[in-house]
Amino acid sequence: MKTTSSPVERIIVALDFPDSVGAERLLKQLEGIPCYMKVGMELFYAAGPQFVLKLKEAGYNVFLDLKLHDIPNTVKGGSASVTRLGVDMFNVHAAGGRAMMEAAREGVEQAMSGRPGAAKPLLIGVTHLTSTSQQTLNDEIGIAGPIDEAVLRYAALAKQSGLDGVVASPLEVTRIKERCGESFATVTPGIRPAGSAVGDQSRIMTPQEAFAQGTDYIVIGRPVTAAADPRQALEQIVESITG
Ligand code: C5P
Repeated sequence: MKTTSSPVERIIVALDFPDSVGAERLLKQLEGIPCYMKVGMELFYAAGPQFVLKLKEAGYNVFLDLKLHDIPNTVKGGSASVTRLGVDMFNVHAAGGRAMMEAAREGVEQAMSGRPGAAKPLLIGVTHLTSTSQQTLNDEIGIAGPIDEAVLRYAALAKQSGLDGVVASPLEVTRIKERCGESFATVTPGIRPAGSAVGDQSRIMTPQEAFAQGTDYIVIGRPVTAAADPRQALEQIVESITG
């Protein structure tokens, strides 16, 4: 995909908070920085669609990271509801298979027919969680073979099923673009500025390295949200990729 947005608009801050109070505090601290905002299950299950609408009213692009994974008919309905909410990006698990991903696409199209003039959300497939290690994949989940092959398989399936891109580790970006084309978007978590705590992520890169790989969006949570000064942390990241 050819992203025309400025670098800061391609940084997605993960609002992983247990309620709207913590998230709103962070929004205040980051006020005026036009980054993308990601609402995941922790915040959405607590603060609901109202919080997403609030972010939209404040002018943010919103990635609703609920990782839908269910039977095709249910995912179609869920995708339609999420589209009507007006989010800019949302995701489904590629492991749900082609029929499920095609149903998600149908749900988006169905909802868009009732929203003339509105921008269509980017529909993104989750390949493997960036916390999944080779051992987890092979020994616990029981999928044989190297992790990068599984990621590429999921990415190709997502592309064939009509999705706009995938969430993947920054380590996979080059090969995903080679396999699925430049215009197939990559959204990469597992981002850690030099010197920050790795936490439970296992396949990581710095923001500069991830963009150098050609990723379209980076997702960054704790290095900003858990920083003593979140604004300074985000500004340093922006500087590291623009300066
Ligand atoms: O705090 P941290 O930077 O690790 O946060 C990463 C964010 O990206 C979390 O909200 C996590 O749920 C999300 N994510 C991920 N790996 C994926 C998909 C989403 O880490 N494959």
